Amino acid sequence: MPINILINGAFGRMGQLAVKAVNEHPHLTVVGQTGRDYDLKKAIHDSQAQVVVDFTHPEAVFQNAMLIIEAGAHPVIGTTGLTSDQIHTLQERCAQLKLGGIVAPNFSVGAVLMMKYAKEIAQHMSHAEIIEMHHDGKADSPSGTAMRSAELLAQANIHLNQPAKPSRETIPGARGASYHNIPIHAVRLPGLVAHQQILFGGLGETLTLRHDSYDRQCFMPGVCFACEKVITLDKLVYGLEELL
Ligand SMILES: NC(=O)c1ccc[n+]([C@@H]2O[C@H](COP(=O)([O-])OP(=O)(O)OC[C@H]3O[C@@H](n4cnc5c(N)ncnc54)[C@H](O)[C@@H]3O)[C@@H](O)[C@H]2O)c1
Repeated sequence: MPINILINGAFGRMGQLAVKAVNEHPHLTVVGQTGRDYDLKKAIHDSQAQVVVDFTHPEAVFQNAMLIIEAGAHPVIGTTGLTSDQIHTLQERCAQLKLGGIVAPNFSVGAVLMMKYAKEIAQHMSHAEIIEMHHDGKADSPSGTAMRSAELLAQANIHLNQPAKPSRETIPGARGASYHNIPIHAVRLPGLVAHQQILFGGLGETLTLRHDSYDRQCFMPGVCFACEKVITLDKLVYGLEELL
């Protein structure tokens, strides 16, 4: 029996691709498609969806995720913009209900590998900064991938970028946002899809990891993989790397 999947945000850029990818997958089937102004709770109930994939909007994602969980469906949350407190709240609720789910800021294999190797490099180099570059329609900044990368870098080396050198910003924001002591610079331009560089600096050398998503198709194998996997879990994981 294929797993019943409902796609929320089904008419957006990511949602449309997810509908197609899920329908083409041998073990998954789309039983519902919802968007803005739909009754998500009723749609989950009526369609008997086991898994709900969310590619909507940063303003709506926490409420959507809570609703999916309370409806007893497994959340696969691709929408970015969740704060770490919100992710923690979702994890607590899933743990109480023993419900499997995932919050994945990036479903592409290349981006997950970039984060994996960045952790290793962070143990050996003293300084790091992140430049993330996205299309100009992106609603939130910095990207979820940049935030997740900064969290992982800081976990790998709590001394990164320490001690901070005093510097005056002639224009506020010139040094980017700071998250876990790691500067994040967000670029928004038409023509881009989703790109990130993690730059490491050491004594007399730098090392740059770069990932480029040229086509949103790159996220689809990860979305389908997560849909299959979440029904076997009893907790909500943060990051696709937790499942690989
Ligand atoms: N995790 C990943 O790998 C990954 C990859 C790319 C994009 N994203 C994220 O996915 C999200 C969607 O991106 P997109 O490019 O498809 O955006 P989009 O604007 O093309 O599509 C979003 C869709 O959601 C709908 N929507 C808005 N609010 C809603 C709500 N409350 N309930 C239901 N539907 C609602 C919109 O009408 C639209 O159709 C963004 O947060 C983006 O950053 C994640």
